[in-house]
Amino acid sequence: MSERTAYLNGHFIPEPELRLAPYDVGVRIGEFVFETVRTYGLRPHRLRDHLDRLYASMKALDMDCGMSIEEMEEVTHEFIERNRATIEPYDDLMWNNDCSRGIAEPFELGPYDSYERTVFMAVIPLGPSLVGSLDGLENGVPVVIPPTRNLPARYLDPKMKNRNRLHYGRGMREARKVDPRAEALLVDDEGCITEGGGANFLIVKDGAIISPEGRNILRGVTREDVRDLAPQLGMEFVETNLAPYDVMTADEAFFASTPFFVMPVTSIDGRRIGTGTPGPVVDRLIDAFAQQVGVHPIEQARKITQPYLADRQKGSRPY
Ligand SMILES: Cc1ncc(COP(=O)(O)O)c(C=O)c1O
Repeated sequence: MSERTAYLNGHFIPEPELRLAPYDVGVRIGEFVFETVRTYGLRPHRLRDHLDRLYASMKALDMDCGMSIEEMEEVTHEFIERNRATIEPYDDLMWNNDCSRGIAEPFELGPYDSYERTVFMAVIPLGPSLVGSLDGLENGVPVVIPPTRNLPARYLDPKMKNRNRLHYGRGMREARKVDPRAEALLVDDEGCITEGGGANFLIVKDGAIISPEGRNILRGVTREDVRDLAPQLGMEFVETNLAPYDVMTADEAFFASTPFFVMPVTSIDGRRIGTGTPGPVVDRLIDAFAQQVGVHPIEQARKITQPYLADRQKGSRPY
C-alpha cells in the first residue's frame, strides 16, 4: 500500500512532511475554515456543495485563499487520485480542505491579513475515524444536553464551518461525564436544539423528518442528503424550532454527518426516544442512500473498522 499524500500551498507532499507553523493564524486564533469531505466508491460525494460552503465561510470571514473554487476542485480531484492506492478496494477516502490567512509574525497582534494563505488537504483515515461510532451506528447512541451552549449566530456564526471548536469539545466532555457512551446535543441560548459537536441532529415525528431551523447550526451537506431523500420515503422535510420536549416525544431521532451518513439516537437525558432502539425511518434512509451512492455506509463501516477494534479495546490509538 502506498504512502499518503497531502497538499500544502500549491504542492503535493508526503503526508509526514505536512506541518503547520505555530504562528499560522489558523493555529493562533483558530481562524481556519475547513471542510470534511468523503468519497463513496471513490467518487467524491457532493464535492461542489462542500466547496461552495468552504467559499461561503471564507466570504463571511472576508478571507480569500488565493485559489478559485474551480482550482480548489481540480486540486481536490488530483488529491483523490494520488491517494486512491493507499486504501483497500472496499474502503473510501475522507479528507479535510483547510484554509487560513497564513503565517503571521510572532509579535503581531492582528488583524492578520497580509500573508500568503495556508491551504492544505490531508486524509482522515475513515476506518479509525469510525471505530468509535460503530456501536452508535448499529445500536443507537444516547444524547445528553450539556451545560455548554452552541454559539449564537450573532457572535460566531455556526454556518461558517470553522475550527474554533472549544464549545463543542467542552460540551462533549460534559456529556461524557454524565454517560460515557453519550454524544453531546447542544442547545442555543434560548434552549432550542441545535446540533452535535460534529453532526446535525434531526427527529422523526408523525411522518415528517424535522430539522432545527438553519439559524444557529452548520447547514450540513448530509442534512441536505436527508432532505433530498425524504420525498423518496414519502415523508415531508420540515425546518422548525425544536425544544428538548420535542425530542423526548419524537418517534425517532438521528445525527447526520459526512463520515457515517446517519446515526440513530435512542435516548435524550436518560429518556427513551420512541422505542429506544434504531427506528424504521433511519433504516429506510440508509437503504435509500446506499442505493444512491452504491455503498452501504454501515456495512462498510463494519468492515473498515475491524482492524482497529482490538486497538480501541486496548485503549491504544487506532492508527
Ligand atoms: C458542528 C457540525 N454540525 C454538523 C456537521 C455535519 O456537516 P456535514 O453533513 O456537512 O458533514 C458537522 C460536520 O463536521 C459539524 O462539525
